[in-house]
Amino acid sequence: MRTQVAIIGGGPAGLLLAEILHRNGVQSVVLERQTRSHVLGRIRAGVLEPWTIDVLRENGLAARLEHEGHRHDGVWIVWGGREFLIDINRHLGKQFVAYGQTNLQEDLFAAAERRGAALMTEAEDVQPMDIASQRPYVRFSVHGEAERVDCAGVLREYEKIYPFGWLGVLAPVPPLPEIAYCHSPRGFALASQRNPTLSRYYLQVPLDTRIDDWPDARFWQEIRARFPRSWAERIVTGQSIEKSIAPLRSYVAEPMQYGRLFLAGDAAHIVPPTGAKGLNLAVSDVYYLARALVEYYRDGSMAALDAYSSTALRRVWAAVRVSWYLTMLLHRFPDASAFDHRAQEYELEYLQSSHHAQVALAEQYAGLPL
Ligand code: PHB
Repeated sequence: MRTQVAIIGGGPAGLLLAEILHRNGVQSVVLERQTRSHVLGRIRAGVLEPWTIDVLRENGLAARLEHEGHRHDGVWIVWGGREFLIDINRHLGKQFVAYGQTNLQEDLFAAAERRGAALMTEAEDVQPMDIASQRPYVRFSVHGEAERVDCAGVLREYEKIYPFGWLGVLAPVPPLPEIAYCHSPRGFALASQRNPTLSRYYLQVPLDTRIDDWPDARFWQEIRARFPRSWAERIVTGQSIEKSIAPLRSYVAEPMQYGRLFLAGDAAHIVPPTGAKGLNLAVSDVYYLARALVEYYRDGSMAALDAYSSTALRRVWAAVRVSWYLTMLLHRFPDASAFDHRAQEYELEYLQSSHHAQVALAEQYAGLPL
C-alpha cells in the first residue's frame, strides 16, 4: 500500500488530521490498534473551545455539534458556600460548547466512512521505520513480534503525576444548567453535561479507589456532600450508565517531531482533565500539522513542517499550564500542609475578588487563538 501520510492512532487527532488532509488533496492511511467500538466506548471530556469549533466547522464537521451541543458563556467555581462565574463571553466575546468527545469521535468515523477513508482498526505492532530518512515507512501486523523505535537523545519528556484520580459517572438525568467546578474539604467535584438529558459528574478519589466500592447511591451522596447546599439541592440523580476512574497526569514530549515522524494529540502530551483541554489540544496540533503537510505536498516546502513542533508547543504549554493550575487550585492534596491549604484558599478568594484575575483565567480557559 502506498500513501503520502501514515497516521498512527484513530482518535480525534488522527481522524481529524486525515479529514483535513483529504479536503486539501493529501492522501493518508490511519492505523488504529483498538476496535472501533472500543474507541467509541471511551468516555472523555466534552468542552469545546471556540477555536476548536472554528476548525471543525471549516472542515465540515460541526453540523451535529451545532445542533446538539449546548453553548455556554462561562464556568462556575464554587467553594465554601461561595461562588463566582468565570464569564468567558463577557471578557472575550466567545462562547464554548458542551459536546462529548465520544460524539465528536462518532462524527469523525462517520465522515471517514462517507468518503471511504483508508482506516484500519485492530492494527497490531505498528512500527514507524526509517523516520529520519526521506523514505520513512510504518510496519504493522496482526500477529507480529514487537520492535521499538528509539528516539532517545532527541526526546525530552516532562511529567507530573498527581496523587489522586477522578471517578466519573454518566447518568441519563438533566444536568445543572452550567458547568461547575467545586472545591471542598472532602475533595474536588465537577458537574458537567453532555446534553439536556445526560449529565456527567466527577469526584476526586484516592488512586487506589475501586469502582465496586462506589455504587451509585454512594456516588450521589458524595457529590451532594461536596457541593454547597444551594447547588446540591438542584442536582438530579439517577442510575448511572457508565462509571470509570482516571488517574491525573501532565506530560509533554519535546520536540513533537523526529525526522519524518510527527507527534500530535495524546501521543505528544497528556493533560489532567481539569479544564477539558485534551481534545482541544488534539485539534490545534492537527490544525497546524495538516497545514504544514498540505504545504509540503503542494509546494515541496519543509518550512511549516520544520516549524510544526515549536508552533504547536506554544499552545500545548498554555493548556498544560492552565490544567495544572486548575488542578492545583481545586483539589485537596493529601500531603498539603496548613500553609498550602491557606494559600489555596487565598487563591480562590483572590480569583473571586479580582476582575483582572478572572479575565486572565477566562483567557486561558478559552484557550489561545490558533
Ligand atoms: C466533562 O464534561 O467531561 C468535563 C468538563 C470539564 C472538565 C473536565 C471534564 O474540566
